[in-house]
Amino acid sequence: MSSTSTLNVDDKSVELAVKEGTIGPSVVDISKLYAQTGMFTYDPGFTSTAACESKITYIDGDKGILLYRGYPIEQLAEHGDFLETCYLLLYGELPTAAQKADFDYRVTRHTMVHDQMNRFFTGFRRDAHPMAVMVGSVGALSAFYHDSTDISDPHQRMVASMRMIAKMPTLAAMAYKYSIGQPFVYPQNDLDYTSNFLRMCFAVPAEDYKVNPVLSRALDRIFILHADHEQNASTSTVRLAGSSGANPFACIAAGIACLWGPAHGGANEAALKMLEEIGTPERIPEYIAKAKDKNDPFRLMGFGHRVYKNYDPRARIMQKTTHEVLNELGIKDDPLLDVAVELEQIALKDEYFIEKKLYPNIDFYSGITLKAMGFPTSMFTVLFALARTVGWIAQWSEMIEDPSQRIGRPRQLYTGSPKREYVTLAQRG
Ligand code: CMC
Repeated sequence: MSSTSTLNVDDKSVELAVKEGTIGPSVVDISKLYAQTGMFTYDPGFTSTAACESKITYIDGDKGILLYRGYPIEQLAEHGDFLETCYLLLYGELPTAAQKADFDYRVTRHTMVHDQMNRFFTGFRRDAHPMAVMVGSVGALSAFYHDSTDISDPHQRMVASMRMIAKMPTLAAMAYKYSIGQPFVYPQNDLDYTSNFLRMCFAVPAEDYKVNPVLSRALDRIFILHADHEQNASTSTVRLAGSSGANPFACIAAGIACLWGPAHGGANEAALKMLEEIGTPERIPEYIAKAKDKNDPFRLMGFGHRVYKNYDPRARIMQKTTHEVLNELGIKDDPLLDVAVELEQIALKDEYFIEKKLYPNIDFYSGITLKAMGFPTSMFTVLFALARTVGWIAQWSEMIEDPSQRIGRPRQLYTGSPKREYVTLAQRG
């Protein structure tokens, strides 16, 4: 059913088409607004703007619902594995057993990186942040894999996608190993995706390493939770970079750069640092007061979300995973978990947080879990980037395959100086 809405501007009246999705809010199509009225719309931060049409991920922020291709995140996290989620996001349907086996095989064949990459890594300082190394090394993939940078060729696009999903764990593990001065561990392809990653991070050549299946399953679930989240900042960055025709490696590197910020993927690192800084439950009220103080820039990290005005469904699964991991590792009392649980309880009862609908997001508990597994805080956002790569790629592919795709080119409300004449240096007062 199509409908229209009417916009009255000065003495003009403009009919704007209203487009409906399968679920979720409809959109007013303003693409002809400038031609019809000479006016732009103004929406800094895109709070009311749908930047594209997509069939991949759906979020109902009021109800706390997240669907990948229609499937609830809870069901995917409970029953599936990460590569199945990758297949689903990329191709739109859950794979059959044969399709799954073929997909796993194809990803696995791409896990090694060009040997010259090892030399490339040595150009980084050892104390570089692993996210800096990821931005650089993923961008550099375009210099190593020329045969998959022609975006007009569907086969090359597919190969580039497989390469990135497969190589991201290898590069992430290399970034970690490099930062601690240990030798790189090559992938071992008879292991599943996540076990392979754990081994590349924590094995050393001097000893045997046995992957703990409980930890591997928990991390795999964490990857599923992070795999896509519709048009968030980093995904929109990937789409915008890709809209100019840039190669996929460069686009994903752009996404990683955007993810790094503390308001986005960097929040998991910031949340753990905050819990460490708070230290004991007695100090929580002091930090709650800081978070509420308009004159203090401090925010409760891992709290609040642009879209979720209810409990982030990923945070619930993450909280359960945290307990599973701590149990498995025999960590009976984790002071950080104590602070987190207490902080959550206090915040959820506080008028400020209730009124602003601020709930824990995925990053609130992920840091505690990843730390318990042995990852340093600097790796947290790297793991987010690893898992989100498939979402970025699925969204990028959807955009490239859309026949109506054009370069993204936002406009502006100009508030600078009107036209004025140049004054030579000698004449300036
Ligand atoms: N602590 C205290 N106050 C907050 C917080 C918080 N964590 N989050 C939002 N507020 C307040 C904010 O001060 C504002 O108050 P007022 O209306 O009085 O000015 C109101 O709530 C709305 O906040 P906003 O900044 O306008 O909302 P936004 O949609 O632009 O920002 C956010 C969303 C996620 C950036 C923000 O909630 C935040 O900074 N949270 C902490 C960082 C974080 O955990 N980020 C991870 C997000 S989930 C994973 C991901 O996307 O990568």
